[in-house]
Parts: sequence; structure tokens; C-alpha cells
Amino acid sequence: MELKGCLVLAALLLPAALAFPIQDDYENSTTTTEPTEVTTQENIYESPSPTETDEEDEDIFNKILKVNKDSSQFLQEGDIVPRRSRSAINCRQCNWPQSSDGIVRIPYELDPAYEESHVKGIHDAMAEFEALTCINFVKRKAERDYLSIRSADGCWSNYGRVGGGQTVSVMKGGCMWKGVIQHELEHALGFLHEHSRSDRDKHVKIMWEYISPPDRPDFKKFENSNNLDLPYDYSSVMHYGPYTFSNTTGKATIVPIPDRSVHIGQRQGMSNLDVAKINKLYNCSRCSTILDGPSGSLRSANYPRNYSDNTNCVWLIRTRSRKVSLHFQAFQLQITKGCQGDYVKVYDGSSKSSPVLMDKTCGSKIPNGIVASSNLMLVEFTTDGAQTASGFQATFTAVRTQRRSSIHN
Ligand SMILES: *[C@@H]1O[C@H](CO)[C@@H](O)[C@H](O)[C@H]1NC(C)=O
Ligand SMILES: *[C@@H]1O[C@H](CO)[C@@H](O)[C@H](O)[C@H]1NC(C)=O
Ligand SMILES: *[C@@H]1O[C@H](CO)[C@@H](O)[C@H](O)[C@H]1NC(C)=O
Ligand SMILES: *[C@@H]1O[C@H](CO)[C@@H](O)[C@H](O)[C@H]1NC(C)=O
Ligand SMILES: [Zn+2]
Repeated sequence: MELKGCLVLAALLLPAALAFPIQDDYENSTTTTEPTEVTTQENIYESPSPTETDEEDEDIFNKILKVNKDSSQFLQEGDIVPRRSRSAINCRQCNWPQSSDGIVRIPYELDPAYEESHVKGIHDAMAEFEALTCINFVKRKAERDYLSIRSADGCWSNYGRVGGGQTVSVMKGGCMWKGVIQHELEHALGFLHEHSRSDRDKHVKIMWEYISPPDRPDFKKFENSNNLDLPYDYSSVMHYGPYTFSNTTGKATIVPIPDRSVHIGQRQGMSNLDVAKINKLYNCSRCSTILDGPSGSLRSANYPRNYSDNTNCVWLIRTRSRKVSLHFQAFQLQITKGCQGDYVKVYDGSSKSSPVLMDKTCGSKIPNGIVASSNLMLVEFTTDGAQTASGFQATFTAVRTQRRSSIHN
């Protein structure tokens, strides 16, 4: 206890960017992963199309490592700032505290060097945490512990809460992708890379013959990782791509087993398992689902049987490009004045602070089709404690637009 206190204090006094030699210093750590609270919903959705952006993902991932190669920051596994002491390993005190209202508020400051588009990119990446989990990133007032999000040299982060102001480096040039920003923020929440899990050898084969000796520690397995009783997640935003740190062109260093064609290393944004894992680690009860196929459908719980009272669920529709188009096939909600009781509300973006596309809607008239202005749409379904009905069912597709959507997604 005494020792722990000292180390925490030491952590507070040390500047965030100190470099330390590689050591096995976050042993009992947390890795990723599947919907738990989420599965109470009978949502149906398609998995991402495997062919659509493999090239793009690979490009982006290699860019991160290339960017970080020139970084003066000493990094483990490509983008994690090593911990200073073994004591913080178990990371009980490394988690960010939860307020009595169940929200985990993480204060942050942004580098004044960011331009408007960068700020928007970072806010968009943060908004998904807020919509899908109980993590809220809030502008720092005077809090002691906070994230200092800076355009430093590369894309990197500390693992877990360190104490004081801790840097999350999101470099302007190379790191401005939603998935990359979320990846670094997840490190700060206390998550490691998915392929570092204790059970990874059942899911991927590490091809040591294509990994040069200095890069081998980047593929370390954490025998004591806290896997949260959730499955291994190939589609985690915390999973490396197949060619990470390969020293031979065209030879993969991480091969999914038994099916080597399974896609790994996406940077589109958090997966459903990433969300479930955050909600489990931080003890949040959230009903949220990501729908990231090129098309799919969603429906209220139990449909076509009646939905339950006192629920609040969101669906984040995130197609890879184009604009999200939503069509309701069925709609039957309790009618209240101003639809203050049960309602469906649709937002043009990934959070409840995004512009409203369809305001609170109830009753039994099927709403008109809705098209978002981008590849993101959030559907909210809230019910009160009085009276239920059969609910709704809808389908979505990505519709062609004049211009290709930006890389910021
Ligand atoms: C790490 O996990 C091992 C095995 O579960 C346990 O024996 C050890 O006490 C843990 N270490 C810390 C620092 O919590
Ligand atoms: C690649 O890594 C392997 C295994 O560490 C090593 O034997 C080999 O010489 C390396 N090849 C190159 C081109 O560096
Ligand atoms: C998680 O939440 C439940 C219910 O609110 C509470 O009983 C429990 O103590 C919480 N656990 C932790 C680790 O905060
Ligand atoms: C189901 O909803 C309908 C309204 O659509 C309502 O009349 C009926 O009472 C509900 N059934 C139950 C069991 O709540
Ligand atoms: Zn990382």
C-alpha cells in the first residue's frame, strides 16, 4: 500500500513522455472484446464486407508504423508508451473513475496546433464512445488527471490512466483516421492490442520467421491479460493488420487460424466487441449496436412482439462510404403528446449531439425514408414506463453520392 502510494506519486511527478527500456511491465492487463449487454436486443446486422477496404486498411496501418518510426518517443508494440513501474500492472487504479450517475468522464485538452478539421475528426471519434458506451470525453477544467491530445511525433498513447496530464499523440499528418484516434484513446482507457491476449495462439499464428529480432517484443503475449470473458475479436480496432512489422514484402506476420482469410486490422472504428469490452470493464449498462455492413436491418427488441418498458437503445449505422439511407418497413409505437413517451429519433452523424434528421416520432404511420449527409447515422429508440406496442423494423443501405466520402469517415 505504502509502496503503491509512492509510485502513484512518482507517476504524477514524472513528465508523461519519459522513455524507458522495454520490459514486461503491464502484465495483468486488459485486452479487448463481444456484446453482452447488447445481446439483450434482438438486433440483426451484417458483418463488414471483407473485400471492400483491405487495401485501404493496410495502407493506413502501415502509415501509422511509418509515422512512428520517425518518432523520438520510445514505444512498445508500435504505439504504446511503456509504463514506468510494474506496480500499476493490474490497473485497478489505472481505470478512469465513474461518477455516481454511471458516466465515466475523461477530461481532455486539445493541442492548439490542431485546425478545425482535426478538431472535428477527434470530436467525431470521441462522439462514438459517448453514443455507445458510458465513456464521455469532456473538456478539462481543472481536473488533475486528463488526456493531453497533441499532434506530437506519431500516433501513440499510454496504457490506462497514468496520473496527471498524459499525452495521446494524434499527429496531424498521419493519424487523423477515426479508427486510429479511437485505437489510441482505447489504449488510454486501459486496453492493449487484441493479438496480445493470453489466448491469442488459438486465434492467430505469429509468423516469427518474418519478424526481425528487434521487433519481436512487439508480438509479446500477455499471459495474465484480462479478457473480460469475451471472445477474441478479429475485427477489433485494437488488432494489428496481417503485415505489421513484416521484414519480407508480401509475408504476413499475423495469420488468423484456422481461416487465414479472416480480415484483421481494420481502422474504420470500434467494433461491437470493442464497445462491449469497454462497457464491461467500466461496468456500464448500455444498449448499443454498431451496424457496419454496406446494408442491413434493425428492429426493436422482441419485434414483432411488443417491446419492453423503460429502455433506451441506439444503433450506430456506419457504412464504409457513401451516405446512409434508412427505410422503415414497420412502425408501431405508443402515442403520447409530442412523442415524449416512446419514440424513435434519428441523427445525422454518430452522436445525440449531431443534427436531427427525424425528431421524436411515435404512432403507427410509417415514417418517410431518411438519407444522412454522410456514412454515419444514429437511430435512438426510447420507451417509457407506460404501455408498449410492436415497435419498428427498418433497413439501411449505402447510397451513391456525387463525391466519394473523405478518408475521415
Ligand atoms: C497477476 O496475475 C497473476 C495470475 O492471475 C496473479 O498471481 C498476480 O498476483 C497478478 N499480479 C498483480 C500485480 O495483480
Ligand atoms: C527477417 O526475420 C527473420 C527472423 O528473425 C530473420 O532470420 C531474417 O534475416 C530477416 N530478414 C530480413 C530481410 O531482415
Ligand atoms: C457495477 O455496477 C453494479 C450495479 O450498479 C454494482 O453493484 C457493482 O458494484 C459495480 N461494480 C464495479 C466494479 O463498479
Ligand atoms: C401490445 O401492444 C398493443 C398496441 O400495439 C397493445 O394493445 C397490447 O395491449 C400490448 N400487449 C401487451 C401484452 O402489452
Ligand atoms: Zn496500439
